[in-house]
Amino acid sequence: MALDAPIDSPEQAMEHAKARTLISPRFYTTDCEAMNRIDVSPMRAEWDAHMLEYAGDNNHDHFQRTGDFTAEIQALDPELRQEFLDFLVSSLTSEYSGCVLYNEIRKNVTNPDIKKLMTYLTRDESRHANFINMSLKDFGLGVDLADLKATKHYTYFKPKYVMYTVYLSEKIGYARYITIYRQLERHPELRFHPIFKWFERWCNDEFRHGESFALMMRADPKLLRGFNLLWIRFFLLAVYATMYVRDHTRPALHRAMGLESDAFDYRVFDICSEITKQVFPLVLDTNNPKFRAGFTRLFELAQAAERAKERGGVAGLVKRAGCAVAAAATFGRLFLMPVKKNALPEQVRVAPAW
Ligand SMILES: [Fe+2]
Ligand SMILES: [Fe+2]
Repeated sequence: MALDAPIDSPEQAMEHAKARTLISPRFYTTDCEAMNRIDVSPMRAEWDAHMLEYAGDNNHDHFQRTGDFTAEIQALDPELRQEFLDFLVSSLTSEYSGCVLYNEIRKNVTNPDIKKLMTYLTRDESRHANFINMSLKDFGLGVDLADLKATKHYTYFKPKYVMYTVYLSEKIGYARYITIYRQLERHPELRFHPIFKWFERWCNDEFRHGESFALMMRADPKLLRGFNLLWIRFFLLAVYATMYVRDHTRPALHRAMGLESDAFDYRVFDICSEITKQVFPLVLDTNNPKFRAGFTRLFELAQAAERAKERGGVAGLVKRAGCAVAAAATFGRLFLMPVKKNALPEQVRVAPAW
């Protein structure tokens, strides 16, 4: 079953969710013994206030379906329908990836702060994943999440890398959902599916999840200096590049919302860079024309590799290898570009003000 085939059966939806391409959302495992050693006490006051917000659970009644879902689903043109389904499946996979990882940590740690946090995070992500899956079920394309958990490939990351990537995924998730929500708030006539109405309160969960990881990292300053600055740079670039390439494969989806993939992504990067100043001492220079040219090149290479794959044979294989080398070189150049430095603020937490 090919990944470029349309998602028109539950098996195809599952195949997409399980995909192991460079731009597919992954599932992670980590070292729970090491997670036990995380000490949030340097951030105790902010941490405790933050935990009270989770306990308040202001979204407990949010993920309820209304009649809108059965009444409002419009017939979508085939291109938009495919890109939207791809968006739903990859969003579901990302949400569920969080759910699986957080639940695994919850079960295996004894550190009471981390256990409590992971309980709240699992609660939220399971709501998010199930809510998206209900929309897929409306199309007859629900994903069997227990099966996905049992059969998808897992990537091991040590806790430090989990913190950098998960923090970024949560904040990018917020920035993406709020950008879409604000656009459709201005243009309700472009809201072609009811799920977008849920994004505002939903993305506040993602924002809060990111805050938890920000506090954990600020509690352990060595994660944010020295050689680790290179890791931060690497993960920022990898997470941004993955999002960029993936989003540019969905031009019709963005067009339908009155957005354009490039403008949408750079808006998301702007928001994300602004937020990450709470914890990372550097931000990528995403508005530099050289940086943007590098991202355009990465997408072109991904497309060329895709075409070579379709062509197949030895020539296709050689072409794909060439694309991979060129993409690695482009990534390397982007990695070496100057970054913008910033001093970390005294108070870690910021408000979801976008
Ligand atoms: Fe989520
Ligand atoms: Fe989240």
